[in-house]
Amino acid sequence: MLVLKSFLSLFFLFFSSSYALYGYAVVRCQFTSTRDLVYLEQFYFNKVLLGQYNSTLGKYVGYSKKAKEIADDLNKSLRILAQAKKNEEKCRNNIEPLLNLTNPVEPSVRVRQVEIRDSNQNTFSCSGYGFYPKQINLTWLRDGRKVTDGVTYSDVLSSGNWLYQIHSYLEFTNIPGEKIACQVEHASLKEPKNYYWEPMGEAKWNKIAVGTSGLLVGLVVFLAGLIMTLCRSSTNGRVLVSTVSTD
Ligand SMILES: *[C@@H]1O[C@H](CO)[C@@H](O)[C@H](O)[C@H]1NC(C)=O
Repeated sequence: MLVLKSFLSLFFLFFSSSYALYGYAVVRCQFTSTRDLVYLEQFYFNKVLLGQYNSTLGKYVGYSKKAKEIADDLNKSLRILAQAKKNEEKCRNNIEPLLNLTNPVEPSVRVRQVEIRDSNQNTFSCSGYGFYPKQINLTWLRDGRKVTDGVTYSDVLSSGNWLYQIHSYLEFTNIPGEKIACQVEHASLKEPKNYYWEPMGEAKWNKIAVGTSGLLVGLVVFLAGLIMTLCRSSTNGRVLVSTVSTD
């Protein structure tokens, strides 16, 4: 029985085969934007995955009789398992530097009035969508002055596609004519950017909504017409064929 003391000997086993076969090993450091990490060592022979180390399982697994034996031996060696753990750590330490190479993505920001109560007590929301990286600062401004009273924040939420979103709320008694802005600081912006609340902004969104539903109704009517036309012409075709056959 082969006793494999290190990866080198494992590589040796694969590549020094006397058959003219093709073996290779891949080491993978897989991670997601939420820092979930899998460290993999995969051993292929003639493109078939023979066995692998998967950090989630924390051990070697073989997929053939021989590979199972080798995996069992590897799992008995504390040194080899410790080495795999060390490699996993190395992989984890490289996540941040790698992520820093990724270009920032600017948030798309929307400022809305979410609740209108009596006595002018209002709630505004400022939402930043689709930005990267995660670090972001939202600040509320009343006529250019920073506000902290009545301000709440959501966590920075992952949208699951490496992008993030955040929501901030401002609750206050507003004075008519006062300019409300949400200031955004983010790696994608050279300087802080102000997004003003526009009372007309709401109307604009309503117009877009009405326009879009109008378009959809038009599309449905068009498709219905198209289907009816197609059905009719195929029926005509059948009538024509039966006439020819009776002749
Ligand atoms: C690693 O193991 C985990 C847990 O069993 C599994 O979900 C994942 O798919 C494995 N990865 C690969 C590439 O086999």
